[in-house]
Amino acid sequence: MKLYALLLSVTALFFSYSVFAAAAPADGEKLFNSNGCQSCHYTAGPAKEKTIADQLAKKGPELWYAGSKFQAPWLTAWLQDPQPIRPLAYNSLVDKNPGNHSKLAAADASQIAEFLMSLTSADVEAGVIKPKKNPKGRLIFNKKMPCGGCHQYPGRKGKIMGGMSGPSLLHAKQRLNPDWIYAYMLNPKTFKPIKMMPVFAGILSEKDMKSVSAYVANFD
Ligand code: HEC
Ligand code: HEC
Repeated sequence: MKLYALLLSVTALFFSYSVFAAAAPADGEKLFNSNGCQSCHYTAGPAKEKTIADQLAKKGPELWYAGSKFQAPWLTAWLQDPQPIRPLAYNSLVDKNPGNHSKLAAADASQIAEFLMSLTSADVEAGVIKPKKNPKGRLIFNKKMPCGGCHQYPGRKGKIMGGMSGPSLLHAKQRLNPDWIYAYMLNPKTFKPIKMMPVFAGILSEKDMKSVSAYVANFD
């Protein structure tokens, strides 16, 4: 009888330990849902299996590849103090970004960030792009291609340069995974098939896309 009780408690301990050990992303997912995040964001991919109506049904960007796109410390901080990323409202070329994204307390932000960082895309190959002051990338970004016409970027002496129709690329160094930038350049449709960025594949060589990705990944 005693042995039976001991076995039972050991089993119980084992189970509570395994639940505890696996707790983080699952708890973050629960918090994601209970905070209403799923009403505006998909956390299941891929994008291409969704119809245009599906795409437009959500008011915010897809997050099923968040773990491949973002850097964890930036994500945790942004969820607590979400400053606008896109100067214009999401999917609009007219309205200003209202800058009213919901804010989370620190504990919820870190659990949700842990959940989001567990969502990755097989289309992002790790370790390809190193951020650097790449002169070739700079030439492509500033002179050869119209990147700056659509994206804000850091100019000299802290000046903010560039256009408004795409997401701001200021602080890309802290925010984005360099390898995701390159995967996005190779095939933006994988991540956002509607109201998307122009495709540069076929216009820029893969080498040029690597240079411009390394250059953008270094933006403060
Ligand atoms: C009413 C709709 C709505 C709700 C609810 C909402 N979001 Fe968002 N979210 C947006 C929009 C719109 C953006 C784009 C903001 C920008 O570009 O500045 C965004 C951006 C984001 C981003 C950055 C994505 C990117 O690719 O730039 C993350 C991460 C995010 N939201 C997480 C969350 C989490 C976590 C919650 C729940 C606490 C949440 N959102 C709730 C609409 C929403
Ligand atoms: C005609 C406008 C336009 C041009 C030109 C353009 N982009 Fe974009 N870009 C966009 C749009 C639109 C998006 C995605 C919008 C969204 O997610 O809300 C985007 C997204 C991006 C992103 C992802 C940012 C994020 O936070 O999700 C990167 C990186 C990027 N562009 C880099 C570039 C580079 C490098 C060039 C030049 C080779 C370039 N873009 C040229 C409009 C443009």
